[in-house]
Amino acid sequence: MAMIETINLTKRYGDLVALDNLNLTINEGTCYGFIGPNGAGKTTTIKILATLLKPTSGQANVAGLTVGYQNREIRPRIGYVPDFMGAYEDMVVQEYLEFFASAYNITGESRRKVVLDVLELTDLTYKATAEVNGLSRGMQQRLSIARVLLHDPKVLLMDEPASGLDPRARIEIRELLKELRRMGKTILISSHILHELAELCNEVGIIERGKLLFSGEVSEAIRRAKVGRTFHIMLMDRTREAAEVLTKLPGVRKVTLRNAEEKELASTGDGLVIELTFEDGSTTAPSDVPSLLINSGFRINGFGEEPVNLETAFMRLTQGVVQ
Ligand SMILES: Nc1ncnc2c1ncn2[C@@H]1O[C@H](COP(=O)(O)OP(=O)(O)OP(=O)(O)O)[C@@H](O)[C@H]1O
Ligand SMILES: [Mg+2]
Repeated sequence: MAMIETINLTKRYGDLVALDNLNLTINEGTCYGFIGPNGAGKTTTIKILATLLKPTSGQANVAGLTVGYQNREIRPRIGYVPDFMGAYEDMVVQEYLEFFASAYNITGESRRKVVLDVLELTDLTYKATAEVNGLSRGMQQRLSIARVLLHDPKVLLMDEPASGLDPRARIEIRELLKELRRMGKTILISSHILHELAELCNEVGIIERGKLLFSGEVSEAIRRAKVGRTFHIMLMDRTREAAEVLTKLPGVRKVTLRNAEEKELASTGDGLVIELTFEDGSTTAPSDVPSLLINSGFRINGFGEEPVNLETAFMRLTQGVVQ
């Protein structure tokens, strides 16, 4: 069943077309990553689905209810995490959550229980008596998520919940989102960065200038963008020789020598890094490369995968730069 659906959804701001006939279908239980550059229309779409913004034309449905006609029925079924959290002076975490629980008409003993449950789920129990304004950005983000879980919504609409977070806080948010997915929630989450969402989401939509360029499974998106996997290899020495060997492997699309500095990687013996790109569905397993080199007498210093930037690949593809 489609939990989120938009039909020719269009939003104009004066002459500017922020959303151009967007057709989106997100089924129940899906974690859907919404990816696009600044100004693509992600926030606009999310705000319309959250019943906070009126579309110019077209239709948006959430949990089978129509935005603009059934907003009051939609609101209890959604949890909206905005891109910025408002400030709440002089409130501690638990009070803050109790305040919002009251707003959802959760009262008495059940309110206390819900607040404690949500604190637990978002790993904020130990911060229950801390001032909201004194929380780190990562904790504030978790609190924003905690807040929208109080009324146990089916659909979560999250606008860049991981932006501005340090790597550790990002991982914590990611774990929390995985848990929510296990709970069967339908999640729409926007971001600029694909590889962050690739692990979490099973589907992605790529949006640019209000138009949906792609919507479907992550693996299909990677296939369509023809992005091969790229690895970095650093050796103690004889880097050029090793590059020659790798060129001859089946399934290797490209071998390039780069300066370690240019790639911002730790410098090695000769200051070079091999950039190795495989064909899609290559017969050589990338994980076999290190042992292959070692068996040929090379000394390896480092081996790692470059994150796939699907968004950039897609942009190039659609602008005709690639192929
Ligand atoms: N209130 C507004 N008035 C006029 N134009 C607006 C308004 N809100 C958004 N826009 C424009 O609509 C377009 C889409 O904006 P939106 O905020 O949805 O993009 P976004 O994908 O969320 O971008 P970002 O990644 O920067 O958050 C942009 O060109 C933006 O300038
Ligand atoms: Mg935005």
